[in-house]
Amino acid sequence: EPGLATYDPGFVNTASCRSAITYIDGDAGVLEYRGYPIEQLAESSSYLEVAYLLLNGELPTSDELAGWTHEVTHHTFLHENLKQFIQGFRYDAHPMGMLMASVSALSTYYPDAREIADPENRRLQITRLVAKMPTLGAFAYRHGQGKPYVYPDNDLSYTANFLAMLFKMSEQKYNADERLIKALEVLFILHADHEQNCSTNAVRSVGSSQVDPYSAVAAGIGALYGPLHGGANEAVLKMLRRIGTVGEFIEGVKAGKEKLMGFGHRVYKNYDPRATIIKKACDDVFAVTGVNPLLKIAMELEKIALEDEYFISRKLYPNVDFYSGLIYEALQFPPEMFTVLFAIPRTSGWLAQWQELLMDKDQKIARPKQIYTGARTRDFIPIEKR
Ligand code: SDX
Repeated sequence: EPGLATYDPGFVNTASCRSAITYIDGDAGVLEYRGYPIEQLAESSSYLEVAYLLLNGELPTSDELAGWTHEVTHHTFLHENLKQFIQGFRYDAHPMGMLMASVSALSTYYPDAREIADPENRRLQITRLVAKMPTLGAFAYRHGQGKPYVYPDNDLSYTANFLAMLFKMSEQKYNADERLIKALEVLFILHADHEQNCSTNAVRSVGSSQVDPYSAVAAGIGALYGPLHGGANEAVLKMLRRIGTVGEFIEGVKAGKEKLMGFGHRVYKNYDPRATIIKKACDDVFAVTGVNPLLKIAMELEKIALEDEYFISRKLYPNVDFYSGLIYEALQFPPEMFTVLFAIPRTSGWLAQWQELLMDKDQKIARPKQIYTGARTRDFIPIEKR
């Protein structure tokens, strides 16, 4: 219509922001946290060290890392009432729904969390959330398994403690294997932050109202739950399991019958650098657990898609979710836990972005603009005349 601003349906008008945390070059397939290439961090760092980097802007000294690790380790427990809250869910409740609800409930345990103007208070709430997410995720998992919850063990590292809370006294016998703990560290590092993605935008938007960080992170978990975002890793395994012949499936995708889950990205129009690293981590994990039989189908799908004009012309490449589910399944996580495994490490990125938002004196409450396409002013019509 005349005068209507042009509107690109692919551009969801979200709150724009300045950020110094994560840099992505989608065409070149580059990802850097505070300037450090993701490949170097995945190779040489630990998740808590990367979380410190995202939150503080610099890699920690050994004393700083020891202090941060000590703080996080001593905030892993949950109030017993919160455990009862989780026990109130149905036996088959989806763990992402449980995680979103219990993180939101956490805000009621820490009323001081609303004092977000105080940097020390912000830091305490950030530490609590980074520390408690694995415990909440593990409790949700054990609830679904009908097994007793396993309390945190402060003698273990962040990821080893998470695996122990999940799999202690269970048939999964290799969760203490150093190679698997390292593989999970790498996966956590790769999922820690990713610039202004859908869930981070939700955290920033909700956080811009100056609500407490638990409520903002709960909003991020809700966004990540969606199959087009973090839920894609669960959707990939379901897709791989029901593929009859790969060629036929690809033709179905090209006919628009469905999407190739784990492919495509809002920003990467090249290979997602995280997918490259995760594919390598597959080899390390499968050396311990045995090869996931779905890997063969995934690699065949990738090979065909990377040579097919439909995908090439649309710049569709594997993203972070294409291979991660294969590792999670080999570690005997049920599919509904895959997105929880995304939310736990992403919490440090969400909180770094939330903190940055609050420290930006020019940042205002999120209020995206719209292009109005509805009817303009007109007179009311009495019901008898309609
Ligand atoms: C994550 O933003 C982030 O950073 C997110 C994330 C993070 O770390 O936070 O990286 C994590 O969410 C990764 C993405 C996980 N989602 C999936 O794997 C779901 C499958 N992917 C698609 O739904 C899609 O690729 C999106 C949602 C990821 C991106 O959508 P875009 O960029 O908006 O792509 P588009 O919808 O504009 O598609 C362009 C074309 C369309 O075809 P045409 O209409 O032009 O004919 O490509 C097609 C789409 O139909 N297309 C696909 C496809 N993705 C896009 N066709 C088949 N399979 C796909 N996966």
